[in-house]
Parts: sequence; structure tokens; C-alpha cells
Amino acid sequence: MNTKNEKTVDDRLKHIAFIMDGNGRWAKKRGMPRSFGHKHGAKAFRNVVEYCGKIGIKHVTVYAFSTENWGRPQGEIDSIIELLDKYIDECAQNMEKYDVRLRFIGDMTPFDDKLKAKIKSIEEMTKDKSLILDVALNYGGRAEIVNACNRLIKEGKTNITEDDISRTLYTAGAPDPDLIVRTAGEMRLSNFLMWQSAYSEFYFTDTLWPDMGPADVDLAVEEFYKRKRRFGKVL
Ligand code: FPP
Repeated sequence: MNTKNEKTVDDRLKHIAFIMDGNGRWAKKRGMPRSFGHKHGAKAFRNVVEYCGKIGIKHVTVYAFSTENWGRPQGEIDSIIELLDKYIDECAQNMEKYDVRLRFIGDMTPFDDKLKAKIKSIEEMTKDKSLILDVALNYGGRAEIVNACNRLIKEGKTNITEDDISRTLYTAGAPDPDLIVRTAGEMRLSNFLMWQSAYSEFYFTDTLWPDMGPADVDLAVEEFYKRKRRFGKVL
């Protein structure tokens, strides 16, 4: 499928979100430290994002670091943040080559000022690029909803609507994910895009994230087009 890199998706599939799971298992199978798995996970991430752009996806979201991931060993946390930092630099240095609008969703407050400034700068630098890439960093779906409610309280709202919540989430203005892909055989959402996934289709694969590539994306896309999305209605 799609050997000529033709655009293969239409408006039904604008947004794919990925839960990039299995880096640790991939490394363990090779007798290597978990950070080795993340390093290869970051390679797969580049490959997958590039391919999504090629087939006409307009919006990609990846779960890079959850609010729960702080419970991991410091060395592992540092290795993930370092990979992200490196990716930001790479985007900044390849502005003509990369057509990616990089944005970060989550609570950035715990990160140092240098990283926060880099994030702000890359978001500004890439704001006219086509493929939107939202990287969920220190992200938790519950925390996001609580944060939205607190913002609405500050606004003085007493009667909250669904639109009010949507416009105060980190993802305000973005379309909900049409398809959520989780690798490594786990079949759960793990606090990812809880509000936004209300009508998303889910695709689970046993492929470990570092092995993820165009062929697996093709399979997920193929499966998506077999689904009948009714959004609660009778069609
Ligand atoms: C889950 O696998 C993966 C993560 C918590 C980190 C994901 C991060 C990357 C792919 C690198 C980020 C870099 C960029 C540039 C986006 P796991 O470690 O929980 O795997 P396991 O379940 O097999 O232990």
C-alpha cells in the first residue's frame, strides 16, 4: 500500500494520536538499558511523523511523557527530555526541510527556563508549517480537565458547557483525534486525551514502538477506513 507515497487519507482522517509504548521492552529484548529503547523510539517517531505527513495526515499527537512518568528513574527521565530537546534543535536547524508545526501540550511548569524558552521559540518559529505535531509532555488527561475547570472558575463561570471545557484544554482549537494508535500490545488509554477521545477509533498493535514504521501506519489507516463512525447516531 502507498508505495508511491501518494496521499492516501481524506478528511475523515485528519488527526492521528500515538501512544508510543514498548521502548523499554524493545531495549530489554536486546539486553540494553531502557534509554536505548527511547533513543530508537525517537528514531521511529521521526519516521512515523514524516510518513504521516506524506500520506496527507494534517495533525499528529504523540504521548512523549506523562504526568505519571516522573515516577521513573531520574536517568530515564533525563534521557527522554534530552531526546526531545535534541528534536527541537533539529527542527530549528532544518526549517527549510521540515514541514512540521511543533507544539507542546501539558504542564510545562516543572521544566527549566532554558527548555521552556526553547519550546516557546520553536512553537513560534514553526507556526506557519503545515503538519501540526502536538507533543504531549508532562501531560495527563485528568490534570488537563481539572486545569480547564480551574481556568473557568477564574473566569467566573458558574454554568460550564462542553464548549467551555474544550476551549480551555491544552488542545483548544485542535480537532479531536480520529484515530488513536497504541503500540506494544497494551489496550488502555493511560490518561491520554481523555476528553478528546470520546469518539476516536482505537487501533492496538503488538509492534513495539521502536519497530513502528510506515507499514504499521498503513495497517492502522486501513483498519480505520473499515470502521463505521456513527458518533452516537443511527446511520
Ligand atoms: C513508553 O514506553 C514510552 C515512553 C514513556 C517515552 C516515549 C518517548 C519517546 C519515544 C522518545 C521521545 C522523543 C521524541 C523526540 C518525541 P515504555 O518505556 O513504557 O516501554 P515499556 O512499557 O516496554 O517499558
